[in-house]
This record gives sequence, C-alpha cells and structure tokens, in this order.
Amino acid sequence: MISNNEGGSGSGLASRNLSVEIELPKRFDPAGAQEYIKVAIDNVVSGLPDPDSLSHEQRRGIIARYTAVLEGNFIYWMTATYLSVHSSEGHAIIEDNLREEVRDNHPGMLRRFAVAAHATSTDVDRTAIDRELQAVRAFVARLAALEIVLMMAFFEGFIQRFMPYLADLAVRQGSHEREYTDVHSVVDLAHTQGLLDAFASELSFVHEPVSHATLFEGVEVLRTLINAIIRP
Ligand SMILES: [Fe+2]
Repeated sequence: MISNNEGGSGSGLASRNLSVEIELPKRFDPAGAQEYIKVAIDNVVSGLPDPDSLSHEQRRGIIARYTAVLEGNFIYWMTATYLSVHSSEGHAIIEDNLREEVRDNHPGMLRRFAVAAHATSTDVDRTAIDRELQAVRAFVARLAALEIVLMMAFFEGFIQRFMPYLADLAVRQGSHEREYTDVHSVVDLAHTQGLLDAFASELSFVHEPVSHATLFEGVEVLRTLINAIIRP
C-alpha cells in the first residue's frame, strides 16, 4: 500500500484531498502494473488545480517548471531505459520511441510552446523543482530495467492526460502555439502501451522474485517530481 497526501495547502492554490491507496498487485503481471500506473495518473490529474483559481504567475510557473523537466531530461531518461532493458522487443519499442523524439525534434517543439506562452523557465523555476529532479536522476542512474520501464510508462501516460490542461494554461497566457500539446495528446497513448509491452517482455528475463517494495519506486519518485511541478 502507498498513500499520497500532497494537497499543497500552503501554496494558496485550490487544494484537494489527494488521499489514495493503491493496492499492490498480487502478481506482477502487466495488467497489475498497468492498473497501478492508471491509478497513479488518475491521482495526479484529479489533483490539478482549477485553472480559474490560478494567477497569471501561477499558470506561467506550471508551464515553466514542466518545460524545465521535460526539455532536457525526457530523451535522456528514455535513453537510460533503452540501456537498462534486456529483451529485443523492449529495445525495439524504446528505439522507435527515441527515434520519434529525436527525428520530430520534440525538445524544440516544447521550447516553442514555452516561448509562445511567455513561460520559459528561470533559475527560480529550476530551483523550485531541483531536489525532486535530482532524485529522479539518481533513480535513473541505477538502470533498473523493470522499474525504469514502469516509470516511463507512467510518464508517457501522464503527459498524454496532462496535455489538455497544459494547452488550456497556454491559451490563458495568450499563446496560439498548439503543436506540442496536439502531438503529445495523441502519440503518448501508443507510447504508454508500448512501454507496458516492453515491461511484459522484460519480465521473462527476471528469474528471481520481483520485490514488491521497489517495483514502483521509479513511478513514485517521478510522481513526486510531477507534484512539485504542479505545486512547488
Ligand atoms: Fe515527446
């Protein structure tokens, strides 16, 4: 069981009780992992503050912190995922993902999105999420295959669900740039499923019992970072 009580009550933002208990699956089959990730994403998305309750600066901050995390880290973390897996199917799925990121210049796409919303990240934005970001980097450095694949499946699924909200914030900041949010509200659904397929392939390489305590460690360390993006 895990629980989450990040309500952001001190932030002045509309807060909700995010208490949730996630039942650990009895067997670590892909369906159990998929359910855990779905609940974790629902938890984050249901806790997003009402855009009407946010000031101009609060909206700018969310876009800026999201950009600070994604622009320079997403491809590096997906590369680490590629390096960590053992199965040929996992390698093929993750390589497709990486090729799309690089070929379609997703960091450049995100940069244009942030510039158009007048929300490029500042030192203050970067400092606000630094501790949680470094924790994710320390986790990624372990190259733990099952755990990092699940982290990235959670990441892709969250990004896809977050796009309408992010697009709404940008429109409220006067932006008409929609390429990043339009692209990621579509492709990341397939990316999430691909990573869950990679997880299933990777399970066949695991011969010792999977630790219940650590399997979702990557999901949790990234969920903490995403909560810091939303409510620093
Ligand atoms: Fe992307």
